[in-house]
Amino acid sequence: MRGLLLASLVGQAAFCVALPSEAAHSPRAAGAQAYASNSAGNYKLSSIAAPVQGNGSPGPSTWNLSIDDTSSGYKQKITGFGAAVTDATVTSFNELSSSTLNELLNELMTSAGANFALMRHTIGASDLSGDPAYTYDDNGGNADPNLTGFNLGDRGTAMATMLAKMKGLNSNLKIFGSPWSAPGWMKLNNAIDGNTNNNNLNDGYLTNNGPQYSSAFAQYFVKYIQAFQSHGATIDAITLQNEPLNSQAGYPTMYMFSYEQGDLIQNYVGPALKSAGLGTKIWAYDHNTDQAVYPEQVLGIAADYVSAVAWHCYATNLDWTVLTNFKNQFPNVEQYMTECWTPSTGAWNQAASFTMGPLQNWASGVAAWTLGTTAQDGPHLSSGGCGTCTGLVTINNGQYTFQTAYYMMAQFSKFMPVGATVLSGTGSYTYSSGGGVQSVASLNPDGTRTVVIENTFSNDIYIHLTTQSGQEWSGNVPSESVTTWVLPAV
Ligand SMILES: *[C@@H]1O[C@H](CO)[C@@H](O)[C@H](O)[C@H]1NC(C)=O
Ligand SMILES: *[C@@H]1O[C@H](CO)[C@@H](O)[C@H](O)[C@H]1NC(C)=O
Repeated sequence: MRGLLLASLVGQAAFCVALPSEAAHSPRAAGAQAYASNSAGNYKLSSIAAPVQGNGSPGPSTWNLSIDDTSSGYKQKITGFGAAVTDATVTSFNELSSSTLNELLNELMTSAGANFALMRHTIGASDLSGDPAYTYDDNGGNADPNLTGFNLGDRGTAMATMLAKMKGLNSNLKIFGSPWSAPGWMKLNNAIDGNTNNNNLNDGYLTNNGPQYSSAFAQYFVKYIQAFQSHGATIDAITLQNEPLNSQAGYPTMYMFSYEQGDLIQNYVGPALKSAGLGTKIWAYDHNTDQAVYPEQVLGIAADYVSAVAWHCYATNLDWTVLTNFKNQFPNVEQYMTECWTPSTGAWNQAASFTMGPLQNWASGVAAWTLGTTAQDGPHLSSGGCGTCTGLVTINNGQYTFQTAYYMMAQFSKFMPVGATVLSGTGSYTYSSGGGVQSVASLNPDGTRTVVIENTFSNDIYIHLTTQSGQEWSGNVPSESVTTWVLPAV
């Protein structure tokens, strides 16, 4: 199973040879183009037969789509797509020779490949860190309210350096950071991990003993953002806590109540970032779609400081329309899909689905979990957490391999650039079960239009697309593929 999902480097070379000429890349000059990645793995961002104008030659399975590419159809703007840069990612990437690493980063961060423009990163240890777990101010377990012991350490420095390299390749890159736990001494249980009792910030919320470490927690973010900046890694946004409703013993977690998060943002972290002169945004929540009341309550307290809400994919009854409902309640708050894993046992279209659903429901960006791992899905903490979180890129024996999930995300990322406007659409576009035919479209800054079509049927389908601007486009979409059409400017 795993072998089937591995994209060989030989395949990469073949893809490069098959790339259309430079002229075909000039969107206004060229006609339409189509690119596909599929379940079988013989298409990997491969150029396939482009759609034609008009009705074409409809086949037995023809689906009608329509998009509104006029101003009445404009929805959210794209910030970017990418994945989480974990310690596992940095450690595994740094196993590569510098020339191989440069080649990999160039594919990830430029139009040579996925053109990723949104990276999450872990502030201190996550479960995808080698032993031991750490934060940027462990201070031997002793309280350090003035953060005099703050330091990134080897792993934090390596991470900041990696993010700076990425930023150097793509100046549009936006980076957001999320901690898995505050330093142990800031917590009621005095531990980063290993304990679910009192696994809470010592901020007076549960204990009624005054704010204690609320200000230190806020300064921890200030110092971290400044330290990363000094390495050239600008932090565009933070979440206060990865998965605030998840308290587990095996890896760093910290439980944070919604009203507690609202108070921390409104009265501590928001003002601290502001008075330090930092433009870093604050994104609320960072957890599953089944508890939308959480970010609603945070926004009820801290609307002045919260610019976006971050969602994960792990709810039992995953329903991305929660984001549309949220948009209706909070029209000015951006939304992001900030975490979904990509196990090697996942369905071929898993990453396409967790990108498509959020985009159809007002998300401005999507980040997979995680960008890179070793062939053993690590390094990860020996004490617990995810042992089967395969990166979009796997590092083995000094070589890198793109997984199917990488190609599926790149079918969006490569063709929906930063600043593109997502368009409303109808027909199969809104097919709700997650299977069959799904699509999402954008109007791009250069006037071209992108239509991403996910076909989960085991047969080819024929798509007939009408646009509000008055065009018809028709073409074949291969079985079990994600196919991207790039249509020329009107
Ligand atoms: C698709 O559109 C064509 C032309 O507008 C129409 O004739 C056909 O009935 C439609 N098919 C479906 C399944 O709606
Ligand atoms: C923290 O800094 C303040 C102000 O500089 C100082 O008064 C206080 O003693 C320091 N606290 C500790 C624990 O070092």
